[in-house]
Amino acid sequence: MDYNIKFVKDFIQLAANGYEQNWHERNGGNLSYRLKEEEVEDITQYCNFNSDYQSIGTSVPKLAGEYFMVTGSGKFFKNVVLDPEDNTCIIQIDDKGENYRILWGLKNGGRPTSELPTHLMNHEIKKITTDNKHRVIYHCHPTNIIALTFVLPLDYKIFTRELWEMATECPVVFPSGVGIVDWMVPGGRDIAVATSKLMDKFDAVIWAHHGLFCSGEDFNIAFGLAHTIEKSAEILLKVLSMGGNKLQTITPQNFRDLAVDFKVSLPEEFLFEK
Ligand code: 13P
Ligand code: ZN
Repeated sequence: MDYNIKFVKDFIQLAANGYEQNWHERNGGNLSYRLKEEEVEDITQYCNFNSDYQSIGTSVPKLAGEYFMVTGSGKFFKNVVLDPEDNTCIIQIDDKGENYRILWGLKNGGRPTSELPTHLMNHEIKKITTDNKHRVIYHCHPTNIIALTFVLPLDYKIFTRELWEMATECPVVFPSGVGIVDWMVPGGRDIAVATSKLMDKFDAVIWAHHGLFCSGEDFNIAFGLAHTIEKSAEILLKVLSMGGNKLQTITPQNFRDLAVDFKVSLPEEFLFEK
């Protein structure tokens, strides 16, 4: 593989940046990227098209034939930059959208992330709702967001509003808010269905007591979204740790004024009076 190919380089860079943030203990977290047609041409020479198809565990017909770069299950983000060919892979989806085959990578064996169903179902909905633009799905385990899922009600309106209030940039970065999935067993179709339903409306979905899923057009946007949300969660955690008594904050009217100047639309469902 040519590690100077832009998407490969950016994939590896995100893994390193996520690890530096302490969001990827052990094998925690996973990452996937949907290749553009011209990018497929760049990597074909490195692919083995003789491998067997295996079941995805769910159905993603709108992704039939597509190629993805994905982290391996049980692989550590820390190690992606050291040995991408051992820790990541490139897969292709079959013509029904039910199976995948490994074309490159995982040179010492293994399979794509156990969250492949969630990644692919998120990609499928985002491909449709963003007119083919979103290509990165990123799952991480950020400490402060996870901590908040123990003390805030698991209500997307409350989470969104509290996170927005903690940093002026937040409503501009995630104007549609954040979705929440109650605690569920990870790694299967059920949590994939629950998450992808929310990805219809949100670019970020929190998994209670587990972590965060972000979607973006490119690696910078997906990572930046996770970074912004986690930073905001850290501020909220500090505020709550100081007793949680806000003497002043950003008000609903402040948000409306911000929306006009920054040309974003902020749904009124988040601007309730407390
Ligand atoms: P994988 O190692 O299978 O990617 O699982 C890590 C994880 O974070 C599960 O949610
Ligand atoms: Zn996880």
